[in-house]
Amino acid sequence: MGAFRSVAWRGDRLVLLDQRRLPGAKVYLELSTAAEVAEAIREMAVRGAPAIGAAAAYGIALAALRGEDLSQADQVLRASRPTAVNLFWALDRMRRIWEGFQGSPEALARRLVEEAERIAEEDVLANKAIGQNALSLIPDEARILHHCNTGSLATVDYGTALGIIRMAHEAGKKVHAFLDETRPRLQGARLSAFEMNELGIPHTVIVDGASGHVMKTFGIDLVVVGADRIAKNGDTANKIGTYNLAIAARYHGIPFYVAAPTSTIDLKTKTGAEIPIEERAPEEVAYCGPVRVVPEGSPVYNPAFDVTPAELITAIITEVGIAYPPYEESLPALVEKAREDRP
Ligand code: MRU
Repeated sequence: MGAFRSVAWRGDRLVLLDQRRLPGAKVYLELSTAAEVAEAIREMAVRGAPAIGAAAAYGIALAALRGEDLSQADQVLRASRPTAVNLFWALDRMRRIWEGFQGSPEALARRLVEEAERIAEEDVLANKAIGQNALSLIPDEARILHHCNTGSLATVDYGTALGIIRMAHEAGKKVHAFLDETRPRLQGARLSAFEMNELGIPHTVIVDGASGHVMKTFGIDLVVVGADRIAKNGDTANKIGTYNLAIAARYHGIPFYVAAPTSTIDLKTKTGAEIPIEERAPEEVAYCGPVRVVPEGSPVYNPAFDVTPAELITAIITEVGIAYPPYEESLPALVEKAREDRP
């Protein structure tokens, strides 16, 4: 993005831009243990599936540099958040290196830092390729509805769904983004609007409940969202509210796109019913900032994600191409292509 990087390595420390403090303050956290990284993920100082994956990979590198037990570090990081498969994908990739490594602890640490760097750099390239691949789907002057935050902050840099909007803007398409505020953590209002502002991309923030009305009255051309986990059949877990948006898009005949790197596709998960959905603390809903808005004693249910059924998804845009239904066939083919393309 230029002005900041959500996840950055500084030789022996991981530096994260604390997303809980945005847009009010740009505060950087310096982390030097896997436990600190796990806490930053759990507390959402770093968030967004690809950013979580990269941060966790650096967490393993930090553990190796400090001579910590790697399987313990791996476990602590795995327990930080359950839904984004990029976390497990990155930790599996790191594990393949440290398990059975032949060499000194110093050599292993160097190798793990290198692998974490590779994961981070590949993510940036993947995001730009997603943006390029999507260009043909974005009409000039498109009005695009977006949910949550999927930009530079949610990735290592550039972003997935928001990256598509950015790429279209940079290509001169005069797009306008409508940003769902995304209750309860307000990733759309706080983070996506922050990024669009910094980039000078025309945008408007709306409350989540306004999306149907905006589709009907403004003539939205397409919806694009990110993903935390895509099952083999195309069912997609993403930020709570995505499912509602997909239903509203179908009713209005608006294409509904999911944008994600192939590291978000989980072929081991057959359908969305198998995806673990994180439930977060009721306080996230009960309070607006410091003010309690739900009466004491009223129960709150706070699922952080929902699953959009594949049949509501027009296409899934990845770094190696666009998957169309039937996803059981197109997704494994793209995952295979990504494997072949990797240097
Ligand atoms: O709870 P969050 O903020 O980590 O959820 C983020 C999302 O749901 C994103 O849409 C998804 O991780 C894709 S980010 C490129």
